[in-house]
Amino acid sequence: MIAPVAGFSKLSKNEKIAWLANTYFHDSEAVIAMLKNYWNSDEKLQKLHDEFIENTITNFYLPLGIAPNFLINDTMHAIPMTIEESSVVAAASKAAKFWLDRGGFKATVLSTEKVGQVHFMYYGAIEKLEAYFNSIKPELFIATKHITQNMEKRGGGISAIELRDKTDELNGYFQLHCTFETVDSMGANFINSCLEQFAKTFEAGAATFEAFSEEEREIQIVMSILSNYVPNCIVKAEVSCPIEELVESESVDANEFAEKFLRAIQIAKIEPYRAVTHNKGIMNGIDAVVLATGNDFRAIEAGIHAYAAKDGRYTSLTDAEVVDGIFKFWIEIPLSLGTVGGLTSLHPLVKLALEMLGKPNAKELMQIVAVAGLAQNFAAVRSLVTTGIQKGHMKMHLINILNQLEATEAEKAHFVNYFKDKTVTHSAVVTAFTAYKSQHA
Ligand code: MEV
Repeated sequence: MIAPVAGFSKLSKNEKIAWLANTYFHDSEAVIAMLKNYWNSDEKLQKLHDEFIENTITNFYLPLGIAPNFLINDTMHAIPMTIEESSVVAAASKAAKFWLDRGGFKATVLSTEKVGQVHFMYYGAIEKLEAYFNSIKPELFIATKHITQNMEKRGGGISAIELRDKTDELNGYFQLHCTFETVDSMGANFINSCLEQFAKTFEAGAATFEAFSEEEREIQIVMSILSNYVPNCIVKAEVSCPIEELVESESVDANEFAEKFLRAIQIAKIEPYRAVTHNKGIMNGIDAVVLATGNDFRAIEAGIHAYAAKDGRYTSLTDAEVVDGIFKFWIEIPLSLGTVGGLTSLHPLVKLALEMLGKPNAKELMQIVAVAGLAQNFAAVRSLVTTGIQKGHMKMHLINILNQLEATEAEKAHFVNYFKDKTVTHSAVVTAFTAYKSQHA
């Protein structure tokens, strides 16, 4: 068994790498060389990245691509996307171009409320707790003034603090359910700092609240933390066009296409197995932009999937209808994003991504991200109900297969051309490549 390592975080980067290479690999020199190969030659830049997390040993690259031609609320955008999946940027670009010729995307932010909670236990009389909450509530605002001052200058702050009785579901369990406006920051640090201060003030005040008995004074704070579920921080994005404009070639019947497209959405509405994959396609677009703009994709994922299940059954995040010959397709999702704070002013590529988007505020970024999700879903569903997904997907994946086979640049060019009119499958590429190699040996 491998011996535990003590004080690992205190070791230098080289020492950490040496430990890793010697402990888990046979060819430690090759491992060390490989890890160092990914270091940036600009030492200052490398140090910046090293300090994002603990125990950094190297960088992990993902491609940053752009999907141009997105017309959103009459402004043209090239959307930055960080993702490993071959076909995502191509699909987004295709959908952007398609809707560019049909008036583009419209997006609106419907609400921007963030949430945080202080979870606590109290086993006394409820009326006394309510009386205590009403008496301490102004103190909660005063005690957090040092945290809220700057946020208030920017137009944000604490919107409301509510006492919630959850004892029906868990004996003794109550919350301070708090809502916040965090303007252009995602607000996690702001919210958590406020909540921790609320908890301290709330606990300390209880100890001297006269109406409480000795036992009632012992309010037990369990934890204070923001919620990534933000059902009142909602953005809507949509596209629409007359049905007959939905198809690009006369060989496809527009009504038939619209009907099949709507069916696909209805299926995702009622069938969770399909809804999960349908929404995964949406997240292909959303996560890629969230990552490229330095936001927290785990928070976004958690919040969006919870929203998709808010009515008790996991369902599609997009919807479509045809009314009076007009096809309309839309998405409504919660998105808690920031364009200041966090990585946004630190990571050079995040700064570049935001600049490319015209330095959006948080609401504008919500609109762009929602559009990326809608575009991705349009592209996926369109392929699914027409050609099937594999045609486009495998065309994009062809280069990955050729890279696995260690094809040269000339061989790659040859096979991209060769497969132009053929179906790409892993085995078809391997067979064709092997035959080519033996012929040219
Ligand atoms: C693949 O990454 C995403 C899709 O499966 C989405 C979908 O099925 O709608 C193509």
